[in-house]
Amino acid sequence: MFDPLHPEDARKHAPATERNRAPILEVLRRVLPPQGLVLEVASGTGQHAVAFAEALPGLTWQPSDPDPGLRASVRGWSASVMLPNLRDPLDLDASAADWPIDRADAVVCINMIHIAPWTAALGLFAGAARLLPVGAPLLLYGPFLRDGRHTAPSNAEFDASLRGRNPAWGVRDLGEVERAASAFTLAEVVEMPANNLTVVLRRR
Ligand SMILES: C[S@@+](CC[C@H](N)C(=O)[O-])C[C@H]1O[C@@H](n2cnc3c(N)ncnc32)[C@H](O)[C@@H]1O
Repeated sequence: MFDPLHPEDARKHAPATERNRAPILEVLRRVLPPQGLVLEVASGTGQHAVAFAEALPGLTWQPSDPDPGLRASVRGWSASVMLPNLRDPLDLDASAADWPIDRADAVVCINMIHIAPWTAALGLFAGAARLLPVGAPLLLYGPFLRDGRHTAPSNAEFDASLRGRNPAWGVRDLGEVERAASAFTLAEVVEMPANNLTVVLRRR
């Protein structure tokens, strides 16, 4: 149960965040503006939010997640560092037509579009297009197919396991993402460790 006197107790751990945060941060440092508001969609445990807000003090970091237990975890991690540039997490479902925020200077979404129905990805592209000014970045991180092919056997196995858990989930094809995100241009694709990509889209 969430205890407001001990928010740290709600902290959840996602070991992958400890492995991927340094390489993701390297891209963020290069691609995000030096100042402004970054909306993180699907913050999960909040470990990324804390690490990125701490490393990028010129930016205000806005975490979000539709899962109340995960928002409690974000608050738990946040309480353990007390960063002035880390906001309270928003209850944001990417597939919703209305988001509880009306502007941002960048949107970051890590490991969500393959672990949610495709409508969440479509909602993400529509919502980010509403929020972002021309030229602003939307960053996606995760595994992707390229030209309909997996980039590694481990990604094919992961895809099969995702589809086994929920037929609406699955590793997305980069070309389909590019076509669906029609309000954006594909600015950069960065190869990341463990056969993941960071995809940098920019608002047209
Ligand atoms: C694998 S976790 C990734 C969390 C975090 N970004 C990370 O890398 O550790 C997937 C996240 O997507 C969130 N999620 C699922 N469906 C969503 C939706 N429709 N809108 C926003 N977030 C969603 C889940 O609540 C969960 O936090």
